[in-house]
Amino acid sequence: MNKIIDFLIAHHDRFEQELIEILKIPSISSDPEHKSDLLFMADFLKAEMSKIGLENSTIHKTKGHPIVYSEWLNAPGKPTLLIYGHYDVQPVDPVDLWTSPPFEPVIKGDKIFARGAADDKGQIFIHLKATESYLKTQGELPVNIKLLFEGEEEVGSTHLEGFIKDHAQMLEADYVVISDTPMFREGYPGITYGLRGLTYLQINLRGTNTDLHSGSFGGLVKNPINALVEILAQMKDDQGRIRIPGFYDDVLPISETEHEKLSQLPFSAKDFADSIAAPALFGEAGYGDLERLWARPTFDINGIWGGFQGEGAKTVIPAEAHAKVSMRLVANQDPDDISRKFIAYVNSLVPESMKAEINAMHGGFGYVTDLDNPGLQAGVRALKKAFGKEVDFLREGGSIPIVKVFADIIKAPVLLMGYGLPDENAHAPNENFSLTNFHKGIESIVYFFEEIGQL
Ligand code: BES
Ligand code: ZN
Repeated sequence: MNKIIDFLIAHHDRFEQELIEILKIPSISSDPEHKSDLLFMADFLKAEMSKIGLENSTIHKTKGHPIVYSEWLNAPGKPTLLIYGHYDVQPVDPVDLWTSPPFEPVIKGDKIFARGAADDKGQIFIHLKATESYLKTQGELPVNIKLLFEGEEEVGSTHLEGFIKDHAQMLEADYVVISDTPMFREGYPGITYGLRGLTYLQINLRGTNTDLHSGSFGGLVKNPINALVEILAQMKDDQGRIRIPGFYDDVLPISETEHEKLSQLPFSAKDFADSIAAPALFGEAGYGDLERLWARPTFDINGIWGGFQGEGAKTVIPAEAHAKVSMRLVANQDPDDISRKFIAYVNSLVPESMKAEINAMHGGFGYVTDLDNPGLQAGVRALKKAFGKEVDFLREGGSIPIVKVFADIIKAPVLLMGYGLPDENAHAPNENFSLTNFHKGIESIVYFFEEIGQL
């Protein structure tokens, strides 16, 4: 073990330099203009996997962005880990709010700033560097590992589900390990045992076949933007409760023990509000803050557009109006069922003067696992050893839709060992990743391999 730790210390700076190199690649999955950057990123990962001693490194083409796979299976009788992560990143706009360009990584203090630093390139790199350190110093691993990195997580993992189903045998594992979540507070490692699910839809309303003069037509035709906001205003009551019929049918309440656990985590609503400059927090009445964030569903309008938005004024009744909406879901809500209920409810509210088109875009189930599986406990010991602190048990409000697919197809517990921080600015300007967490993360995965090898 000392030899591995010495290796981590000796290669500390090189690991950071290599991280900088992958953060320069603008692998934005939603933007067709960046398709070749995703191919480049996949090639880079494949080469890296072979370089550090992994075997059978392969790129699997999909109709979207490629899936990269590699393995090391030379520890017969030992458990197998399937390590999943994503190499695609979110778009960078509004780019003028970045203090340094998103694909020119800079280190300031303990943090490295770049799109993808925390979500998720920095975190997948932890696994690669831990594996490299182990293999270079020991010549072997104490566990079997399979690495699976996709380029479509930020756009709904469109092709990964089919790939997992088609390659279920190749991907067989005792545990699935994912580092794509934040810790709850700086210095304290966390294990996430629950994620929310999601469904994302677009509504298009059309009133007429062309924009109209609001003087010549106003009073005789309905304005689609007016209609859209009237419809959307019906989604929630003034207590923050969602009004879609049947929406809460399958929501599982949290247990008394879990209530107690949540209340033990240090959370200040005031500090949370201050950290985002919110004048006050808002949410569904009758539930605690962390419960609302992690274990209650939400409805949000993500974007709404239509009509005149230029300089000055224009008296127009627009022909159409649009909105993108999403709902964060919790166990046991089914995203398809919720989408259907949403569509039926919206359709029931569309006035006869409008034509509506509502399309579900993507989504996935939430996930909750129990804390007493031996792999998760091995993770707890490893994190504690590397960070020198007790482990926080967390749920998260975000979604990794493929987690439920892993749980169902691979039939293995999914361990979410994440190394981000609450102020990492994921999906926002100035995304950053703590270098302390990067290096301690690598160390913790080394310990984790050891711990799993002893199960
Ligand atoms: N890393 C996040 C998931 C996450 C976010 C976990 C916050 C915990 C806290 C992941 O990359 C992500 O952003 N997922 C999307 C999924 C969607 C595009 C289907 C999300 O949650 O919006
Ligand atoms: Zn993300």
